[in-house]
Amino acid sequence: MASGRLSVVVTRRLPDVVETRLMELFDVKLRADDTPMSRDEIAAALREADVLIPTLNDRIDNSLISQAGPQLRMIANYGAGVDHIDVATARQRGIQVTNTPGVLTDDTADMTMALILAVTRRIPEGLAAMQTGEWDGWAPTAFLGGRVAGRRLGILGMGRIGQAVARRARAFGMQVHYHNRHRLREETEAALEATYWESLDQMVARMDVLSINCPHTPSTFHLMNARRLKLMKPSAVIVNTSRGEVIDENALTRQLKSGALAGAGLDVYEHGSEANPDLRAMPNVVMLPHMGSATEEGRVEMGEKVIINVKTFADGHRPPDLVLQ
Ligand code: DGY
Repeated sequence: MASGRLSVVVTRRLPDVVETRLMELFDVKLRADDTPMSRDEIAAALREADVLIPTLNDRIDNSLISQAGPQLRMIANYGAGVDHIDVATARQRGIQVTNTPGVLTDDTADMTMALILAVTRRIPEGLAAMQTGEWDGWAPTAFLGGRVAGRRLGILGMGRIGQAVARRARAFGMQVHYHNRHRLREETEAALEATYWESLDQMVARMDVLSINCPHTPSTFHLMNARRLKLMKPSAVIVNTSRGEVIDENALTRQLKSGALAGAGLDVYEHGSEANPDLRAMPNVVMLPHMGSATEEGRVEMGEKVIINVKTFADGHRPPDLVLQ
């Protein structure tokens, strides 16, 4: 540990206020420009730093972790999802992994609702008509979408974000259903006015809107595979603000192309920024560039969580957001 302060490498530019505070507390190496680090640069950082602060763009896999020097003690992820980090290998090597849960719940739930509304109310088509100047006035049959009130929303993954989506959806008059590894406590379920489905297949087959809110883990990879996507009603739409890998994107594209599914709202993609090009051309698909947590407040709070985790560790205590999986 150089000069008694932890040496910390950050793989990506963070909000100014977060970088300033990190510099006050630690010996920090920041990115000069806002580009991702190469794999070689991350490997070098793992050999020199006590703490690495990566983002979801950095694949910290087994082979990278095996290159870490003995000084590396902590990987303090800037973000909630840790599917890009081989947590088990890190833990075996005595490297603590932390994340930033909680602070992006409201923002991600808001974006989920935005996508549900954008797809069902055809907002991008309306926007395009205004931007191109094609709109020539109100008409009784133009831009007709569907009413969300009364529709059945199925939430796949009823953790913090799923529950925040449920509260918003109830305010919009939707009927909330959910599938989760564990059923919620009776009082939580009652407060959310949510109906539990033990069978994901049965829930999927009956929903008007399906929202993916579970994390990506080995057991949720392609949970929405071709077979399950085919169970959905042709009038249904699917929305994903979690991780692209939960849906088989090629199968989804086929369903949408064939008209077997009415629409999709996607903030995340199976292969990161390499979304299936066919999806881009579909008017019933609303695509966003993974911006669910993209608020000024959220990104600063994520940084504050990282700082608390690293500082707590530096002070010799267990960081509050230790990932134990
Ligand atoms: C996360 O923190 O994992 C989110 O996906 C970032 O938006």
